[in-house]
Amino acid sequence: MLALVTSMETRELSTGRVRIRRATPGDLDVLVELEQASFARERMSARQIGRHLDSLSAEVLVAVRDHQIVGAAILFYRRTSRVARLYSIAVAASERGRGIGEALLDAAEDHARRRGRPLLRLEVRVDNAVAQRLYERHGYQRFGTHLAYYEDGHDALRYEKALA
Ligand SMILES: CC(C)(COP(=O)(O)OP(=O)(O)OC[C@H]1O[C@@H](n2cnc3c(N)ncnc32)[C@H](O)[C@@H]1OP(=O)(O)O)[C@@H](O)C(=O)NCCC(=O)NCCS
Repeated sequence: MLALVTSMETRELSTGRVRIRRATPGDLDVLVELEQASFARERMSARQIGRHLDSLSAEVLVAVRDHQIVGAAILFYRRTSRVARLYSIAVAASERGRGIGEALLDAAEDHARRRGRPLLRLEVRVDNAVAQRLYERHGYQRFGTHLAYYEDGHDALRYEKALA
């Protein structure tokens, strides 16, 4: 079963080796901390994250440096859709600006490809310029807007990338 295949990629960054792997239930506490530290609102609860760790329609990836989780990305898949969705990506504040977000994005794309999804889509807050630059640098194209998508009324910009 494809979803059960574990995978590990190691990326050599200027700040040292970063390993990207599938998250396991033992990572839950750190994932919750990362979620709380990275997002001011609409955070996922421990229960929601735990469910994604155990779901065939989600993949949670973690970036590990020196045995510490320094970032995470969550992908969603629908059985009936050829589009994978990058639901979230986060890097610990002290580790940002070192290419870890990019390494996670690369790994997310690889995982989506392996799951047979030729297209990856995501939404990003209109006021999140750092994330928008990361996606644009990585070949994502803006294709639409969800008006008042977030609880505080901010719009979401929609991006997509063909993975073939
Ligand atoms: C978006 C995010 C994942 C990017 O991760 P990252 O590992 O910092 O990504 P990169 O290393 O590619 O750097 C991103 C930018 O920050 C800059 N940067 C440099 N030093 C930095 C620092 N100390 N702190 C933050 N950003 C820094 C980088 O130079 C780069 O700028 P550029 O886009 O102008 O080139 C990260 O900022 C984050 O977790 N943000 C909070 C959660 C979030 O908004 N997620 C996206 C929506 S789900």
